[in-house]
Amino acid sequence: MARARISVDRDFTVARVSRRLFGSFVEHMGRCVYTGIYEPGHPAADSQGFREDVLDLVRELGVTVVRYPGGNFASGYAWEDGVGPLEERPRRLDTAWHSVESNAFGFHEFIDWSRKAGVEPMETINLGTRGVDAARAIVEYANHPGGSYLSDLRARNGHREPFGIKLWCLGNELDGPWQIGHKTADEYGRLAREAAKAMRAVDSGIELVACGSSNQAMDTFGTWEQTVLGHAYEVVDHVSLHAYYQEHDGDVASFLASGTEMDRHIEAVAATVDAVRSKGRHRKRIGLSFDEWNVWYERGRDAEDQPQRVADAGWQEHPRLIEDSYNVTDAVVVGTLLNSLLRHCDRVTIANQAQLVNVIAPIRTEENGPAWRQAIFHPFALTAELARGESLQTVVRSDRYPTIRSGDVDVVDAAATWDEENGRLAFFLANRSLTEPAAVEAGLRGFDAGRVLRADVLTVPDGRDRFAANRWAAAGGPVRPGPLAGVTVSGEALTLTLPALSWAVVVLEARMR
Ligand code: AHR
Repeated sequence: MARARISVDRDFTVARVSRRLFGSFVEHMGRCVYTGIYEPGHPAADSQGFREDVLDLVRELGVTVVRYPGGNFASGYAWEDGVGPLEERPRRLDTAWHSVESNAFGFHEFIDWSRKAGVEPMETINLGTRGVDAARAIVEYANHPGGSYLSDLRARNGHREPFGIKLWCLGNELDGPWQIGHKTADEYGRLAREAAKAMRAVDSGIELVACGSSNQAMDTFGTWEQTVLGHAYEVVDHVSLHAYYQEHDGDVASFLASGTEMDRHIEAVAATVDAVRSKGRHRKRIGLSFDEWNVWYERGRDAEDQPQRVADAGWQEHPRLIEDSYNVTDAVVVGTLLNSLLRHCDRVTIANQAQLVNVIAPIRTEENGPAWRQAIFHPFALTAELARGESLQTVVRSDRYPTIRSGDVDVVDAAATWDEENGRLAFFLANRSLTEPAAVEAGLRGFDAGRVLRADVLTVPDGRDRFAANRWAAAGGPVRPGPLAGVTVSGEALTLTLPALSWAVVVLEARMR
């Protein structure tokens, strides 16, 4: 049996948990849009072709903000292709994903879909092949009330009222040599600054996200952020982070420690941002937008499911791309990644799991067929629902285990939130041991805890297969949370046992002492 002692204290908080931490991402890639969220002719499609079975799952997932239309796709995209009468929209080659883009789903459809899903839209502009002029034009089209050419065009295309998009990303991963219109940090930093000024001149109320590094392993990681923010600090509000995690060559120990990798990544970017702030004597603070994160088997483990080499698919419309099937281990890791975001919610202002449907996604669909929840759906949905109020500092004293990638790591991972308004104390816990249950004792300083309101656990079904996944299962599948028995609470102490390889949430009724 592994052991862990966790302490929280009413007075030691991190920050309020922003609802924007529970974002997601819809890219014109593979089957995320077409046959994912949009499939006219599907039995569950509404009058606009939006799949209502998928909309129901998106609402259940608790997604709050959705980044769109890419990703790499955005760096070659002209938004004008996706507005106006359907029959006049051009078919284009999307060279980011080697696919044919019909443009049947475009800007207006995305806004309408966002409203039905109840999410905030987050629009990525093309700073790969386009520049300052297109940057200000899209803001005028979307947000200007009327009386100008582009805002009147929006009205003629069906939306008299402005879209009112607040969050805008200044391009995508422009540090990456794979990106259409890849740039040096100086080139991008200057372009981002000038685009930002032009966009703000149209609408001063918008919030802008500058591209940080595509991942922590980039040679330019750190210097990219320094240079870009050196140019653009004063005109942007957030800088982006992207990270994908996977089990490399059977190294499950390191994979399960991905949350620790995410902690270090966030702390490294925060340190760089702070250095730029002091050097430039800036008063304002910049947030971190973790606008792509997830588990992604980039090297593929399920060849049938994942034609990783996009070119192999030829020039098709919405080919199957990176449709990873997620298992119990992946779900536990996703739970710990969400914990990392909660632990850093004083710095991370926005976060988007990538992506929403089919493409490395919590929701899967089949064309003309069912929609279902993947294993990773559950930790996201429960955390989005139950992490409310303020994030509390968690001091964890746990047995540790060695990993190749992250050194010695706690067996038990934890985050906690305190929702004073509703008197709810929530713990989000993971046991990274594949073989041992973990006895957890939590000290709740400054709280008087009452009933256990909820205790759910997601673990290996029947204790057997950590690779179990929900495949083709309209009705659920084997990987789903169930009740966690044996949780006891008395006054300032909570005790429970986590099964081997599990993620759990426990909510207590509590009041401050
Ligand atoms: O989410 C898939 C891709 O990963 C995105 O298009 C890109 O931004 C990232 O490299």
